[in-house]
Amino acid sequence: MKYAGHALFASVTPFHSVILKGHDRLPQKLLYGNPLKATKFKYFHQKCMCHKESIMVAARYPSPWFSVAPMMDCTDNHYRTLARFISKHAWLYTEMIAAETIVYQKGNLDRFLAFGPEQHPIVLQIGGNDLENLAKATELANPYSYDEINLNCGCPSPKVAGKGCFGVRLMLDPKFVSNAMSVISTHTDVPVSVKCRIGVDDHDSYNELCDFIYKVSSQSPTKHFIIHSRKALLNGISAKENRSIPPLKYEFFYALLRDFPDLQFTINGGINTIDEVSEARREGAHGVMIGRAAYHKQSTFSSPWNLLGHVDSAIYGAPPSSLTRRQVLEEYQLYGDSVLGLYGTKPNLRDVIKPLLGFFHSAPGNGLWKRKADAAFQNCTTVKSFLEETLVAIPDDVLDSSLTQAPVVFSDAFARAKTLLPPPYTVREKELLYA
Ligand SMILES: Cc1cc2nc3c(=O)[nH]c(=O)nc-3n(C[C@H](O)[C@H](O)[C@H](O)COP(=O)(O)O)c2cc1C
Repeated sequence: MKYAGHALFASVTPFHSVILKGHDRLPQKLLYGNPLKATKFKYFHQKCMCHKESIMVAARYPSPWFSVAPMMDCTDNHYRTLARFISKHAWLYTEMIAAETIVYQKGNLDRFLAFGPEQHPIVLQIGGNDLENLAKATELANPYSYDEINLNCGCPSPKVAGKGCFGVRLMLDPKFVSNAMSVISTHTDVPVSVKCRIGVDDHDSYNELCDFIYKVSSQSPTKHFIIHSRKALLNGISAKENRSIPPLKYEFFYALLRDFPDLQFTINGGINTIDEVSEARREGAHGVMIGRAAYHKQSTFSSPWNLLGHVDSAIYGAPPSSLTRRQVLEEYQLYGDSVLGLYGTKPNLRDVIKPLLGFFHSAPGNGLWKRKADAAFQNCTTVKSFLEETLVAIPDDVLDSSLTQAPVVFSDAFARAKTLLPPPYTVREKELLYA
């Protein structure tokens, strides 16, 4: 597939071309009741009050050809702010927020749901298995103007899929997921999507995956699925092991594209470089989602800076960026110092600095910078002083040079997967509907 470049910036993806309703249902006190905090947070949330305008332009966001995955304890407001300084076009997902958290923290919603409007396009991921709470949570989130609501059907952690009985466990109950997606859709103004695995334990055949997709897409308004292309094992391995032990089966993803041509599919799992993103799209993926490589260093050629820095030009056809790391850090410092202590002791300096810890991966001075960072956490109280104390470790040319051309990394993983496609799915419609 060829990328059409700038002309498509304004194009609206088919599943995001909804008429946006409810512009006037913005909360009176959208953000901060405390005037002191409101002043402190001026930098960040002056812009938030422009939500109304940002909703108006929501339909102009580019398609989610590239997105950063939801990651607990990682893709928080701080990380997303940093990511947005680096890429203007990547779609950003929140960490999963349990529907119950939203419902029970009704008086404290900004802490969980507020974000700066520069973070658009942004997707809220929720988790849960209670229809009433999913409905209420969606309704409470609606005024914050997320661009899509996503239901987590992929988390294998014992707390979520075990005790909590949601996350990937929901894949075993497509009927419930259909109901949940219908309920979520009824309570939001924006499109809805599901993020799932390709199977659970021994429910791992291609037909079972298709039954899930078929049932959810035909019995709810869900038209977009993000497929983490490995199954989950609920036999006691950890959530972390569940991201590497079950093998990736991209052939299931590409078979879904063949068998459900009216749906939109985003591929996820094990994708580490911009070249792989391009290849996955060339082979037909509507969207590509990257998790770990957009946060940590996953391979020699990936790190948040190197990966996200190339997204706008390589994937969306924007001119090469002249942005430097120093410019990103200057912006981030203003943001960081404006939010420190916004909620009492939170966020603290470590919370705000955390997304920066991978910022110099593979760059000269990174080792020394890390050691200085350890020391700076002991005696710095602001992001400004932290950066002053640590950045002396990084040579000026690293701070002041713009992104270098991404090295070409040959990959044919997706072309190979297309030679391994399982037999086409045939809908056992009656059987499914009356199951
Ligand atoms: C630290 C961490 C936290 C995660 N939290 C979530 C989450 O909240 N919701 C979710 O759907 N997936 C979560 N995931 C899974 C990722 O979204 C993604 O599916 C997975 O990491 C595979 O993509 P990758 O190989 O590009 O990292 C998490 C992954 C990591 C590493």
